[in-house]
Amino acid sequence: MHRVHFLLGLWLCESHLLVPPVGTTHTHTQLHMHYVSSTLSLSVMPFLSFFSYACVCVCLCTDVSAQEQPELFLKKLQQCCAVFDFMDTLSDLKMKEYKRSTLNELVDYVTVSRGYLTEQAYPEVVKMVSYNIFRTLPPSDSNEFDPEEDEPTLEASWPHLQLVYEFFIRFLESQEFQPSIAKKYIDQKFVLQLLELFDSEDPRERDYLKTVLHRIYGKFLGLRAFIRKQINNIFLRFVYETEHFNGVAELLEILGSIINGFALPLKAEHKQFLVKVLIPLHTVRSLSLFHAQLAYCIVQFLEKDPALTEPVIRGLLKFWPKTCSQKEVMFLGELEEILDVIEPTQFVKIQEPLFKQISKCVSSPHFQVAERALYYWNNEYIMSLIEENSNVILPIMFTSLYRISKEHWNPAIVALVYNVLKAFMEMNSTLFDELTSTYKSDRQREKKKEKEREELWKRLEDLELKRSLQSDGIIPT
Ligand SMILES: *[C@@H]1O[C@H](CO)[C@@H](O)[C@H](O)[C@H]1NC(C)=O
Repeated sequence: MHRVHFLLGLWLCESHLLVPPVGTTHTHTQLHMHYVSSTLSLSVMPFLSFFSYACVCVCLCTDVSAQEQPELFLKKLQQCCAVFDFMDTLSDLKMKEYKRSTLNELVDYVTVSRGYLTEQAYPEVVKMVSYNIFRTLPPSDSNEFDPEEDEPTLEASWPHLQLVYEFFIRFLESQEFQPSIAKKYIDQKFVLQLLELFDSEDPRERDYLKTVLHRIYGKFLGLRAFIRKQINNIFLRFVYETEHFNGVAELLEILGSIINGFALPLKAEHKQFLVKVLIPLHTVRSLSLFHAQLAYCIVQFLEKDPALTEPVIRGLLKFWPKTCSQKEVMFLGELEEILDVIEPTQFVKIQEPLFKQISKCVSSPHFQVAERALYYWNNEYIMSLIEENSNVILPIMFTSLYRISKEHWNPAIVALVYNVLKAFMEMNSTLFDELTSTYKSDRQREKKKEKEREELWKRLEDLELKRSLQSDGIIPT
């Protein structure tokens, strides 16, 4: 099935700091210049005048001596605090272009220069980034934005915004970067605003945010609990109140690597997050948009602590979709991922309710649900678990399988079912024969009952007929 592809590159260990990975940033050639309309106006430009007066037209890296560079760096950071209105595609074209090239310079500068990161630079960097990225997100173009159907509203100021993100990531990843200084500026309030941006409709922005938050989580130990708690809150609001937040998949992806770094034994807080937040996330209507990432997180938890298997599977069974076959197929896929890593001792604890559900899926009138469930029998590990416990599982599955083999409309399903029955027969032919004869005698008893019922009806009808004839005086009482 799907495996989540990780841009993030590194696990976040709970106990220690990690070196930032390289090679995950985006190149300038990927720049997209999108100018799209949206209804929000970003017209307040407090710094614009400063920007136009103090045009620093010297290049940071080449035009000035090494001693002058840090100061020029600060100046350019200040310039880039000016925010332009991209809704108006014709205004300030020169200045927009100038800012773009300045941002490019800043990106290059933090990438190559050494000794640039003076203590004064930190607040300026954070200020510049904040001025640019923190904003009210534009309302969606469509009234009721449906991420599965509608095109997302792309961020109009992306030509600048992308470079700001690019710059910030390189700043965070720079070898000279010192969290001990930065933590004065990158604080809880900053993180809170950053998390709000994950609701951006623009997938390009969310992708950058993912990397930014991941780096911050990796470098600022003091913010970790806070970040987890806030993500927790976002998810709870998403599940129980709004059912709307664009960045769920991205946040889950970050969580996947966070979970992987959890120390053992797991804290109660983490287990609670799994049971109270991740499991209920399965109930959301738009599950398909983040299901792969969610399933990944669940499996990460189970690999950390197999004792969580039973509550997780019981949770899934509790929230099993009743009417949406597409969702049911997703659940079956996730369950298979869980079974791939399940320990035999855990499997035994949960096999009965689990296979009762699988048996229902196998007999689903939905071809795809039945097929997805029957695919489990192609999985060698699952097969070995079934074989070890055939005395429990075979009786649960038998009736559905046998009936389908006789009655199902779809030949592909019937063929799959025959294979499963054959496998069962090979596992324990004694048991198989027993079940077959029980099934048959049950059926016979049913048929006999049916016949008796029919006869009874017939007799009743005769009686009724006779009585009505008598009351009409046609035959004597
Ligand atoms: C096969 O099933 C029968 C009846 O349930 C049981 O007694 C027997 O132990 C099983 N054999 C194997 C090899 O599992």
